[in-house]
Amino acid sequence: METKLIHINENGTELTAQEESGLRQAGEIIKSGGLVAFPTETVYGLGGDALNPASSRKIYAAKGRPSDNPLIVHICRFEDIREIVSELPEEAIKIADAFWPGPLTMILPKSRAVPRETTGGLDTVAVRFPSHPVARRLIECSGGYVAAPSANRSGKPSPTCAGYVAEDMAGRIEMIIDGGQVGIGLESTIIDLTEESPRILRPGYVTQEMLDHVLGKVDMDVTILDSDSGRAPKAPGMKYRHYAPEGRLVIVEGEPEQVVAYINRHVEEDREKGEKTGVIGTTEVLEQYRADVVKCIGSRRAQEDIARNLFSVLRELDDEKVASIYSESFPEQGLGQAIMNRLRKAAGHRIVRLPAEEGDSRPEG
Ligand code: TXA
Ligand code: MG
Repeated sequence: METKLIHINENGTELTAQEESGLRQAGEIIKSGGLVAFPTETVYGLGGDALNPASSRKIYAAKGRPSDNPLIVHICRFEDIREIVSELPEEAIKIADAFWPGPLTMILPKSRAVPRETTGGLDTVAVRFPSHPVARRLIECSGGYVAAPSANRSGKPSPTCAGYVAEDMAGRIEMIIDGGQVGIGLESTIIDLTEESPRILRPGYVTQEMLDHVLGKVDMDVTILDSDSGRAPKAPGMKYRHYAPEGRLVIVEGEPEQVVAYINRHVEEDREKGEKTGVIGTTEVLEQYRADVVKCIGSRRAQEDIARNLFSVLRELDDEKVASIYSESFPEQGLGQAIMNRLRKAAGHRIVRLPAEEGDSRPEG
């Protein structure tokens, strides 16, 4: 299959006639059962008709994703949620008022309109109303309900620009809409509203503190915080290997100077073994690193930059065929919860904590 590429100006507002006609064409592709990758404010999505079981099957096939891992249904008007959920609790309305359109997904009981192919066999459905103008217009042109996982091949970091989508999806889908670099860079926050109390299943740009503020106390799913909780994760996607670079990634936690010293020592050792080495570091200490490839993830003072750069840095390290990667660690406040959640998964939970385990400690797990 040949994948058509179209471009829309970065902020997606004031579309030219050509851009508008491109989006209409994209909408027709989705309505007739095809797949279109498109920008959202979080990451690029791989869209198909959420109410068409055949489209959902195609999404799983294109991603190489297990079909028990449910998809998020994207809408472009709040009222449209009523068609796809069987209950709309008070909390959902409060959350929508506060954060929609925006980078937040709610899990609710599904209506009969949503096929089980879309929900991975579950009775619940994930719903998101994105704020990105291109995403909203595309959903509108596609009939209103677009199932869209992140537009990466299963196991790879979510794409933050159209080039990465093309790397993973060219030849597998009908169209890619290039809307430039995304703004946030990490996937939406997921909150489950189907249990007794609201629970965050995936941390994101909308933080626990922000949700606490609207709903009172909101819990974080223990399977997110603790890899050894022994419980099956509620969001099926959380159990799969994710975001993993080809190389072996280790996170090093501790005082900045000790972290730099530890990383440089291990970089040296790995290089002696003949491995190409890489570091993910912050501006503040970047020039002290001695690895073959040193990637800047941003400044410690700018959490949003770190979030936006994380997935592209992981992809760049793969492109450079780095075998051994060390990353600094980040404080888990606010957006830091989402950053560390993705980074820990990328590292397969290999974390070294300094100084308590200084010396010749090897990574846990
Ligand atoms: O920001 C985002 O959410 C992006 C953009 C494209 O909107 N989409 C995205 O989709 O990240 P995906 O498929 O990569 O991640 C969806 C996550 C998975 O972990 C999945 O298991 C979970 O949402 N999920 C979907 N439906 C669910 C449900 N009914 N119950 C629990 N978890 C669900
Ligand atoms: Mg994904």
